[in-house]
Formats: sequence, structure tokens, C-alpha cells
Amino acid sequence: MCGIVGATAERSVSGILLEGLRRLEYRGYDSAGMAVWDGELIHRLRREGKVQALADALDGQPLTGSAGIAHTRWATHGKPSEHNAHPHMSGTSVAVVHNGIIENFEELKSELMISGYNFSSQTDTEVIAHLLDQAIKSGADHLSAVKDTVASLDGAFALGVIHEDKPGELIAARQGSPLVIGVGIGENFIASDQLALLPVTDRFMFLEEGDIAHLTRDEITVWDINGEIVEREVTQYKHATSATEKGKFKHFMMKEIYEQPTVTLAAFQDRIQDALVNERAFGEQAAPIFDQVKQIQIIACGTSYHAGLIAKYWMEGLAGIPCHVEVASEYRYRPVVIQEGTLFISISQSGETADTLAALRDVKDQILASLTICNVPGSSLVRESDLCLMTNAGPEIGVASTKAFTTQLVCLLLTTLVIGRRFKITEALERQIVESMMLLPALIEESLQMDSDIELMSQAFAEKQHSLFLGRGTLYPIAMEGALKLKEISYIHAEAYPAGELKHGPLALVDKDMPVVTVAPRNDMLDKLKANLQEVSARGGELFVFAGCTQKVQSGEGVHVLGMPDMPEILEPIVYTIPLQLLSYHVAVLKGTDVDQPRNLAKSVTVE
Ligand code: F6R
Repeated sequence: MCGIVGATAERSVSGILLEGLRRLEYRGYDSAGMAVWDGELIHRLRREGKVQALADALDGQPLTGSAGIAHTRWATHGKPSEHNAHPHMSGTSVAVVHNGIIENFEELKSELMISGYNFSSQTDTEVIAHLLDQAIKSGADHLSAVKDTVASLDGAFALGVIHEDKPGELIAARQGSPLVIGVGIGENFIASDQLALLPVTDRFMFLEEGDIAHLTRDEITVWDINGEIVEREVTQYKHATSATEKGKFKHFMMKEIYEQPTVTLAAFQDRIQDALVNERAFGEQAAPIFDQVKQIQIIACGTSYHAGLIAKYWMEGLAGIPCHVEVASEYRYRPVVIQEGTLFISISQSGETADTLAALRDVKDQILASLTICNVPGSSLVRESDLCLMTNAGPEIGVASTKAFTTQLVCLLLTTLVIGRRFKITEALERQIVESMMLLPALIEESLQMDSDIELMSQAFAEKQHSLFLGRGTLYPIAMEGALKLKEISYIHAEAYPAGELKHGPLALVDKDMPVVTVAPRNDMLDKLKANLQEVSARGGELFVFAGCTQKVQSGEGVHVLGMPDMPEILEPIVYTIPLQLLSYHVAVLKGTDVDQPRNLAKSVTVE
């Protein structure tokens, strides 16, 4: 989704802004722009396409000045084009960058047109620039103009504003979309996330909902939703800056796939004490809340939703706790019945997904408590939930989620154990599962060694239009996740089915042009799965089966078995994810797609 960067400094800010935009590229975008105040005037440059196109334009037409704002746009209102790219200006006086959606922009636009404003874009953002200009022309100062304008906007947004009459000043506003202030020495910054500003600061101030901030080089003032001046805590960024570099890998996605032995360990190691899960890891209030849990409602989107589906098998199968899982965009728009004692668990890599956040806000008064499983410290879900368990995966830059997913699963398993203690999980079972978890980093490491076999296997997919993924039990959501990864980065249509559903429809699709990927569990459903494989084979479908050595599935004509390490059943969904991530990666590389920034997708989906 759109990315915002802003800076006020003694030095020229355009280099800082450009680097910030590069670091926000992972969020997904289709055009980029910058506006810099040079001491007298605001100069603007915008380009459709990549940040590099803007950088090339800046080479020929440098923007120098000590305050500025910049933006990567992910089109919502109006197609990707230079005219629709941000910053948007009203005349020459005011420039605005915006992330989010202004729901009442049509109404505001009509009123502004009646007042004589002309529009040069189809965006909702341009109304903000004109509203600011109108307020200033009618006598409001710069800051009150932003306050009044924000008050007239409906929807979710984050804004950055500069004005030609306000040397070195930057105004930021946050209502529903993420925005962070970077605190420097004699210079200050704003950005959609911390990663954009790591070259210039590691100290951050997170704005709360409804906050408006005024920044100069030396001072930051924040007003809360009630217009009161407030102090917002400054926190230090903890991850190494190498987390945001590709290192020896060609793509962030591959780097992040290979980080999984380390990050899955980081997701559990400090949370285990004497071979049991330490429930204080969930927050001081966790124990009394968990004591009252009667059922679980999990809400998430995309990959995070798939993690939730696996948690359902664990919560109900291991712990005996009723557990419902639903995608946020459905849940929030239907009348729901919330039973007493419901723990609401949101799962989100970014912590900013608009639908997930809205679902939490909608039910807050009706639930026992909320827990978020999240990867971004200080994100909205973390701040607005009663409890949180951070996934500790470090920044995930590739748009396709990999390490965030496997660490979510680790955290969900920890959650199942601590709540499950109050239900069916005995201390002996908990110790046994914790012991199994210790094997996880090594098992992931071992499955990464299948990389070159999977690279070979990817050739069978690169020319295909469609594919089918089958799984059973906890590996059914893993088949869904494998299909989603393939769709996202290689643009091949991929469908996932519980293997038992095959003959209820999808078998009609199977022929030699439809590769079928199967993840074969080592549980009592294996024989049933083998029967499903026969059905595919008999129709000329080419089968790729990921199975452990003891599963006794044989390679043969049209059947390729890729051997997985043997492992405790509880770890299967986590470890079987790895080869499917590698498969989608290699197919995408063969097809030459943009692996880290697949078309039309955004990393942080801050609009619904
Ligand atoms: C897929 C992917 C998306 C996200 C989804 C939710 O690789 O990344 O499906 O999982 O947009 O995002 P978060 O987890 O940030 O709430």
C-alpha cells in the first residue's frame, strides 16, 4: 500500500526521501513522487512506475531543500499515472501525501468545485490539498487548517503536509493508517514504517489514532484526538539493519525463506521455561484472562488466515477448546454471535491490515479479551489488543509472506499449549510438544536442503496455466498456503482442496496440463490420501508428492516423490511449508516475475 516519507533537516532532504521510498518499495506501489521546499517554493517531481524512474528524473532535475515529503502510490481512486501520483498540490502553496481512503471525497470534491477549485487528478487525495488551501485562504493558520481539514474527512488515512509559507515545517496526521515519527538529532522525519528511516535514525515515536503532529528540525509537538498536547513515548528500533538488506541472496523472499531456522527458534526459545511455556510471554494480564477463556475466535487475512486454520486443528484437536476461524473481511460485515468467554485472536504480519483491525474494533466490547499474534512492534493491532505475542521474525520485506507465517504457527502452538493447559492438555503432553519444538530449526534446515531438487521440479510448472494443491488435516491449510504463494508470485492459477473433496468436483480438471502437488501427512489419513493420488494418476495428472521416508509413497510414471525428513506430527504443517515456498519462488524466477514485489499486491493492506 502507499508509502509516506517526510523530512525536515538542515541538510538537503531529497536523498533521505528517495532512500526512504526505496525502502518502502516492498509495500507495493505503481508510481512515486516527491515535493521539496527550497527555502522559497515547493518543487515537485512525480513518475509512473518504479522509484528508479523517479530517481532517474531527479538526476536530470534535482530537488534541493531542507523540508520535503515523498510517496509511493498504490492506486485506489484513479489509474496509475503521473497525474494521479502524489504529492498533490493546491496551486503552488501546499503539498500533501496520503495513505488510505477518503470515503466522502466525492461530496467534498463537488463542494470545492463549486468554490472554484479545479482538479488535475482522479484521486481522493487532491481534495485534501484544496481543503487546506481553502482553510488557509480563509484565515486559518497552517496547523489549524490541517486540524479542520482532518475533521472533515471520513475514512482511514495518514497524511504528510508541507506549506510554502512555513519554512522547514512538516505536519503529519494519523487516523486509521500507520504513521511513525523518526526522531533525529537536529532533524526529524515521518514515514509509513520504521524501515524507511533506518539510515537516518533508530528512535521512533508511534502516533496514536487521531494524533496530529507538527515537526520542525528541533521540535516535535503532538496533539491527541481531543486536541490536547500529549507526549508520545520514543522507542529504540531493535533489529539489526542487515535485516533490511538482501545479503548474498538475489531476492528478499529467498533470504527470508532461509532465515526460518533462526526466526522460528526466536519465536519460542525465550518463552520456554523448564520445558513448559511461560505464559508471562503473553503479557502480565495473560493468566487471569486465559483462566476465563471458553472459546476462541481467530480473525486474519490471506496467509495469516491460513495460520489460523491450522490453529483450529490444534485448539480443538489437542486442547479441546472450541475455535472458529474466519477471514476478517467477511466477519466484520456480517452479524456475529459472540459467546461468553470468547478470546479474540488476530493474526497479522503487519499489524495494520484494515479489515483485521476493523474486526477487532467492532467486537471489542463483546469479547472477553483480545490477543494479537503480530510481527511489527508498535503496530495498531499490538497497541489495541489486550495481549500480544510477537512473532519475532524481524522485518519481512518480500511481499509474499514466508517467515512471518512459520513464526505465526510457532506462536499459535505456544498459545494452544498455555490455554490448553486449562482444558485437555496435560503437563506431560505439553513437555512432549515443547521437546518436539526444539527439533524445529534443524528440521527446517534439513528441508531447505531440498532446494536444488525443487528448483528442478519447478520446470514442470513454469509453462503451465493451472495447478492443484491437495492436503488433509493440518496439511490442508498448508496446501492452501502453497497455492496462494504460487498464485501471488508466479501468477499461475493454483487451487487448493482437501484431498477428500477431489472426486466431488476438481477431479474433472485433472489432465496432463494440470500438475498436482500433494503434501502427505504421516497420520491415520495417509491410506485415504494414497487413494486420492491413484485417482489423479489414473487420469494422466502429473503428481508431485512431498512425503516422509516412512510414508511409503513410491515414485513412478507421472509420480514424483520428494522426500521430507521424518518429524513429529505436530511439526508437519510448519516444516512442510518450506518446500512449497521454495517451489513458488523457483517457478517465479523461471517465469521472470518480480518476486519481491508481485504485480497488484501490497505488503501492508491498510485499505479494505
Ligand atoms: C500472502 C500475504 C497476504 C497477507 C495478508 C494479511 O503472502 O502476505 O495474504 O498475509 O494480506 O496481511 P497481514 O498478515 O499483515 O495482516
